[in-house]
Amino acid sequence: VFSPDVCGRTCLAGLSAREKSLPSKHFYDATGSRLFEQICLLEEYYLTRAELAIMGRHAEEMADHLGPRCLLIEYGSGSGVKTRALLDCLTEAAGYVPIDVARDQLGQTAARVADRYPGLEVVPLCADFTRPLSPPDVAGRVERRAVYFPGSTLGNLTPDEAVRLLRQTARLCGAGGGLLLGVDRKKDPARLHAAYNDREGVTAAFNVNLLRRINRELEATFRPEHFWHHACYAPREGRVEMHLVSGRGQQARVAGREFSFTEGEPIRTEYSYKYGPDDLRDLAHAGGWSIDRDWSDQRHDFTVAYLTVR
Ligand code: TRP
Repeated sequence: VFSPDVCGRTCLAGLSAREKSLPSKHFYDATGSRLFEQICLLEEYYLTRAELAIMGRHAEEMADHLGPRCLLIEYGSGSGVKTRALLDCLTEAAGYVPIDVARDQLGQTAARVADRYPGLEVVPLCADFTRPLSPPDVAGRVERRAVYFPGSTLGNLTPDEAVRLLRQTARLCGAGGGLLLGVDRKKDPARLHAAYNDREGVTAAFNVNLLRRINRELEATFRPEHFWHHACYAPREGRVEMHLVSGRGQQARVAGREFSFTEGEPIRTEYSYKYGPDDLRDLAHAGGWSIDRDWSDQRHDFTVAYLTVR
């Protein structure tokens, strides 16, 4: 199995830019995955609860759209909790392909799913789903290939990257393909702010953990205690911007190279785009998909949409 460890090249490129950044997919080492599961349970982090409520309420209709003998590929399967409602409703699924960069969690999730659905062929893939991939062979007949992409993870890509991934996904699924996409919506910035600045500081710990991982895996010398977590919503861009802000003038060596940080200088670690109704439709169209149907929670915080290849 291909295993995406921290990529020195992308980290160095990000740190060398005038506006420094680090790639967010590296958040998910063992500690990062655990912290993220904790984020999903936070009072302020409404996203997971809203999406789970939608899945609980509408999984049957979603499964009707996916149809029988569907090969379900999941981008960023994580703990696999959201997928359960869907798998419970699918008829004669041809296979389930969870994809995630978090290897240990992927193994556990795949084993749990295989256990719960004895007839289902489970083919875990430890990979970065933004890289081109080919669908794995499964024993049964496949009526439709569909991707399940929950968690508003699409929003962690820039619009250009998102369109590229959507196009690539349309090619992967082919004619008749489906995409079940969960995205967070635009709302009161105060609620967005709270969701990414929880009182317990779990999100801060999650963000700073990126530096600990890079220290370990790229022989880097970041002093995590001298970086602050900073997240805020930029309404013009329609995204939460997450940073690690240097608490003082300092240096760090990363993979043999020296980087300087001035006091107050940010390293961008992640974007989280939020979507209005038109935003999602435009993005889908640009990526080669049409929205067939969508479901939201009662507060209209979150939307799960079913898209088909155009
Ligand atoms: N897809 C999630 C989101 O955009 C990822 C996420 C949630 C996240 N909280 C985070 C990433 C905190 C980094 C830090 O909401």
